Amino acid sequence: MLDPRFKDALKELLAEGAETPFYAYDLGTIQAQAERLIAAFPGVRLFYAVKANPRLFLLRFLRERGFSAETVSLGEVFRSYRAGFLPDEVLLNGPVKPPRVLEALAEAGVPFLGVDSTADLLRIARRLPGARVLLRVNPDLPVSTHPHLATGKGESQFGMLPDAIPEAARKARELGLELMGLHLHLGSALEAPEDFEAGYRVIERLLEEVGPLPVVDLGGGFGLDLDLDALSPRVRAFKARAGEVWLEPGRFLVARAGVLVARVWGEKTTRRRYLLLDAGMSHFLRPALYGARPPVVPLYEGSEEGVFDLAGPACESTDVLARDVRLPVPKEGDALALLEAGAYGSSMASPYLDTPHPAEYAWDGERWLRIRERGRYPDLFAGERL
Ligand SMILES: Cc1ncc(COP(=O)(O)O)c(C=O)c1O
Repeated sequence: MLDPRFKDALKELLAEGAETPFYAYDLGTIQAQAERLIAAFPGVRLFYAVKANPRLFLLRFLRERGFSAETVSLGEVFRSYRAGFLPDEVLLNGPVKPPRVLEALAEAGVPFLGVDSTADLLRIARRLPGARVLLRVNPDLPVSTHPHLATGKGESQFGMLPDAIPEAARKARELGLELMGLHLHLGSALEAPEDFEAGYRVIERLLEEVGPLPVVDLGGGFGLDLDLDALSPRVRAFKARAGEVWLEPGRFLVARAGVLVARVWGEKTTRRRYLLLDAGMSHFLRPALYGARPPVVPLYEGSEEGVFDLAGPACESTDVLARDVRLPVPKEGDALALLEAGAYGSSMASPYLDTPHPAEYAWDGERWLRIRERGRYPDLFAGERL
């Protein structure tokens, strides 16, 4: 669904000459999703997962609404600081933190650190003495989501298996780190409250073994239709076992707020009927990478309808953004919106095939703000030598 006012605003932006493809965000939707989270989880500290959409404007928007930032790279930490977050408002997770990263943090300000392995633990203790750390638990579970997103499975590379946690906790304390708590992130796009239960039980059991800790971080992964109120009592129950409960939502906050707008530059029929778009996998990778199929809304009128696959400009068989979409037959240059593109859209866009990054716009209900310029071709070669 596309809010009719937002749809009209998109048409106006196009009429003003905005160059496609571009990303556009409805700030009202982000605001509403933020309010839903805050209402469902009172007293819980919310860290926005920056990877979902790292635009500085959106980071500042969420900080102003009380969010902290969850990051997984040095670049994301720098970006969060640039947006105004303080080290006390940033958590750095991620499976590999080389010495160079830790040295840079010592200079820029040390955030909370998620410890992902023993190697991580020892290196952090050596380079950032006294740092505040959480131990990432690999709960060793099957999870019912796309296999790429199931980070809580025992086979995944993330975190430490439950059996290794008591020893890691002992070591963290012995090495003088400030052990803040345990961290769990089960996967992405989890739609049922029950999906979280088995992981939560692992954390409860571990807390009994390692003793009370100031924080339990239960990660992100909230699917767009997850019933937050059904999950809420279970999350808040952790407050009895730890001083603070933290969550790390990403997709839930921004996915439905964002669209990728593209124009149609042709139609052709092979054994299937295609519309040829000026947006593809370089701009929006999730369809190729995860098989995501975004809903599509035409921003044009037409009486005759057809069923189309939407192909991008890359010479790649995976460069199909949607399949079997019923649409009015477009004219050359008509525009359409790919929905649910606010999360892991812009952030995963790449310069593959020397493609400049699309421009990005935010709509505050009345006017458009250009929050990122379209990438420039000369910048694609910057830093290279002939
Ligand atoms: C550690 C961690 N926290 C939070 C998130 C955010 O997940 P989501 O956008 O599904 O809420 C991710 C996503 O990969 C993650 O790896």
